Amino acid sequence: KKISMVGVPLDLGQNRRGVDMGPSAIRYAGAFERLKLLGYDVCDHGDLTVPVPYVSASEEDLKYLSAVVDTNRVLAAKTDRIVAAQEFPLILGGDHSIAIGSLAGISKHYEELGVIWYDAHGDLNTAETSLTGNIHGMPLAASLGLGHESLTAISGDTPAIKPENIVIIGARALDDAEKMLVRKSNMNVFTMHEVDRLGMSEVIRQTIGYLSHCDGIHVSLDLDGLDPIDAPGVGTPVVGGISYRESHLAMEMLHEANRITSCEFVEVNPILDEKNKTAEAAVALMGSLFGEKLK
Ligand code: ARG
Ligand code: MN
Ligand code: MN
Repeated sequence: KKISMVGVPLDLGQNRRGVDMGPSAIRYAGAFERLKLLGYDVCDHGDLTVPVPYVSASEEDLKYLSAVVDTNRVLAAKTDRIVAAQEFPLILGGDHSIAIGSLAGISKHYEELGVIWYDAHGDLNTAETSLTGNIHGMPLAASLGLGHESLTAISGDTPAIKPENIVIIGARALDDAEKMLVRKSNMNVFTMHEVDRLGMSEVIRQTIGYLSHCDGIHVSLDLDGLDPIDAPGVGTPVVGGISYRESHLAMEMLHEANRITSCEFVEVNPILDEKNKTAEAAVALMGSLFGEKLK
């Protein structure tokens, strides 16, 4: 299968400039070459055009709302076309708000799209519950049809995903309102407590089990899911995260399961990074997700 790589240099979903350079950093860390070496046919579509801050208005309901919405609409059209062409979408962020567009486009092709949300956060805030007003804290809610209508409308009339088709892994910084939403919905959440208690191997085994009825599975990997020791170049680091090794194990097991149909790597911020360490971690994990283990 052909892999279609798309960069989305958007940093307006949060406060710290620099995630817009994530796609370059990930490319520079050798993403394309790494996948080529594994024998894949890879096409790099380059970066989407994204508005820059200051130019786009910020006196909106939410910070940079129209810029984030416009970018996600373009991305949704792009992922829709990639899946329609029977290719595998590999999206490079950018802040996590771009998951709204990725999922909006991809979900058009699946009845029951599963999502593995690998993240320190739940990104389950709405315009009402958000304490920061940053849209990168809202993409999972928006994809469920919750939140500002300009965000939920990106997937059309129906939400991109259903709560029972979500598995969150690595959560350790959920806001109170997000915890409430998790409790009253039937999302599957492996916080760091479960990662420690069960071990990553069991977490992934159960994840695959929860999503066994799904006809496609998207991996949305926020680099802040990893511990800041291994991934320091992120805007919202949280201590006590998933280790580099656990993350590789997770990606290897997901490859073995042979169920993943799209993915994205987000929140790499080279300005906050140490010599591109976080982009390199992203590319190494990409290698494992695409079957590097014995190659
Ligand atoms: N929960 C916080 C907020 O709503 C942090 C979100 C962090 N999200 C992320 N994609 N890194 O702003
Ligand atoms: Mn996060
Ligand atoms: Mn996130």
